[in-house]
Amino acid sequence: MPSDLARHFLLDPGFAFLNHGSYGACPRPVMEDYRRWQERLERQPVAFMEPAHLADCFTEVARVLGPELGAEADDLVWVTNATAGLNVVARSLDLRPGDEVLTTDHEYAALEKTWAFVAARTGAVVRTVAVPLPLAAESFTDALRAGMSGRTRVLFLSHVSSPTALFLPLATIVAEARARGIVTVVDGAHAPGQVPLDLTALGADYYVGNCHKWLMAPKGTAFLHARRDRQSLLLPPVISHGWIEDRDAPGPFGGTAFQDAFRFQGTRDPAAWLAVPAALAFRAEHGWTTVSAACQRLAWEIAGEVAAVTRLAPLATPETSAPQMIALPLPDCDTGALHRELRAAGVEIPCYRWQGRPFARLSVQGYNGPDDGARLVAELARLLR
Ligand SMILES: Cc1ncc(COP(=O)(O)O)c(C=O)c1O
Repeated sequence: MPSDLARHFLLDPGFAFLNHGSYGACPRPVMEDYRRWQERLERQPVAFMEPAHLADCFTEVARVLGPELGAEADDLVWVTNATAGLNVVARSLDLRPGDEVLTTDHEYAALEKTWAFVAARTGAVVRTVAVPLPLAAESFTDALRAGMSGRTRVLFLSHVSSPTALFLPLATIVAEARARGIVTVVDGAHAPGQVPLDLTALGADYYVGNCHKWLMAPKGTAFLHARRDRQSLLLPPVISHGWIEDRDAPGPFGGTAFQDAFRFQGTRDPAAWLAVPAALAFRAEHGWTTVSAACQRLAWEIAGEVAAVTRLAPLATPETSAPQMIALPLPDCDTGALHRELRAAGVEIPCYRWQGRPFARLSVQGYNGPDDGARLVAELARLLR
């Protein structure tokens, strides 16, 4: 791990770690802040857990996180991960037989299961549109528009796609869907910290994003952003002290009904969430905008070298790919075996099939340096021979 920033991370220095995308990696000072919160809780658990104290803590996180997301603090609540937040949304919607959920063929597999689960229980139908490739804003919007009908009730899109690492241009179709009364749900698992966000301007009904991936907060930190007029429809996964039946009345603990219902869900350890501001501070201290730009340059250098080995061009361009993730097509191979062999050689990168085609997904974060790419390229050249 040859970048200067690598010393701030706990990652095994024996690895060329090129898979930030799956679970992120949390810098040491952020982990220290996370542990400090846990210790504060353990010193006086009863005082710490008092609703007024917890509410203050949560309010402070949302106050600091909101500007990063282009969001009003009051529209954000903590969920433990993107899957959990999107489950809340999908399972709160009042879908009926014949209603359609419109989505793309680039979604994360776990969320495909969530929508299939909801469809099976409500009689709704999931309709999947193939995103035309190479990705372009106009053909993307056209394809989704063509998929809409009078039965479309929900539009579900990733902001950054998991299998293909595309940065999907969703603003136009989200606005159109909203104008047609279609509920818009965005899976922003990979977006915060990787792509610029203005959630208020985007205006999606529901947007869920992870802080534990590209913002580098501890694991278990994601947010659910709900547009003000859509908050009262959401059912928290746990009904507890924070719940109030009248969804338009103030919550029982000084927040809105939405905030209190999601803040108070029985005894939980909120330390990871309370360390989100430390992750933002770490990024600011190290000039992460500049770091990210350098990561993007390095990612494309590595992608070019991999393409020279595989003779296959990346699926996207710097304009259409996620800034720090690139899907690299591979020659036909056993992707499971390739992944195992790369790991055995000290290279961590996901290798998988998408639509029957083999890919590796490259992630580059501030701790990576050119040596990591060189190791990947050398091992791929050896293993794909
Ligand atoms: C697009 C997308 N959505 C959702 C998730 C799930 O994230 P989490 O495991 O934090 O719930 C992922 C994970 O990589 C993802 O890529």
